[in-house]
Amino acid sequence: MSPIFEESAFDFVSRSAEQTRRLGARLGALLQCGDVICLAGELGAGKTQMAAGIAAGWGALEPVTSPTFVMVHEHTRAADALRLYHIDCYRMDGVAALWTFGWDDILDQGGPLVIEWPERIEAALPPERLWITLSHIDVEGEENRRHLLFEAEGERHQALLDEFRRRAFGAPPGVVPAD
Ligand SMILES: Nc1ncnc2c1ncn2[C@@H]1O[C@H](COP(=O)(O)OP(=O)(O)O)[C@@H](O)[C@H]1O
Ligand SMILES: [Mg+2]
Repeated sequence: MSPIFEESAFDFVSRSAEQTRRLGARLGALLQCGDVICLAGELGAGKTQMAAGIAAGWGALEPVTSPTFVMVHEHTRAADALRLYHIDCYRMDGVAALWTFGWDDILDQGGPLVIEWPERIEAALPPERLWITLSHIDVEGEENRRHLLFEAEGERHQALLDEFRRRAFGAPPGVVPAD
């Protein structure tokens, strides 16, 4: 199947936390081993909301809570023995903090990774990933609006982004789905 969109980035405006979680769930359902989802953006932008949706869509058994003090959440699911790791780097002031909780083991085990505040550990991140930047939109009376920018690095994450976009938003006018 040939790629449908072949665009390495697109953006979207979410109007509610629920919508952000739903989008996350769409993405989570598509995750494969080795996928890396980076959630960047300021405090309160909705990174943890999206991470919760991603975990739920992936099939995680227990919900993701806002990990203010806990840096690493490990999720299992009923379907198989895979693990999804959700890592919050808010309190990390560089890559050295990663070695305190077995970052190498997490990378080696191969399950999908979801990372909040990825810019704080940029030097340790795999180069291929889906980078999602969430930000507040400053419109009076619309405090629930968030801008979501999706950017893919590498072939696999490009395919993931294409598939996510097709499922979540459908094909744009004039584009005939390939299957
Ligand atoms: N469109 C939206 N998307 C995500 N969260 C939203 C949205 N609108 C309002 N919110 C609220 O903003 C807050 C986002 O919190 P959280 O996901 O913990 O942010 P972060 O992890 O980026 O610091 C939540 O209280 C959520 O209910
Ligand atoms: Mg958070």
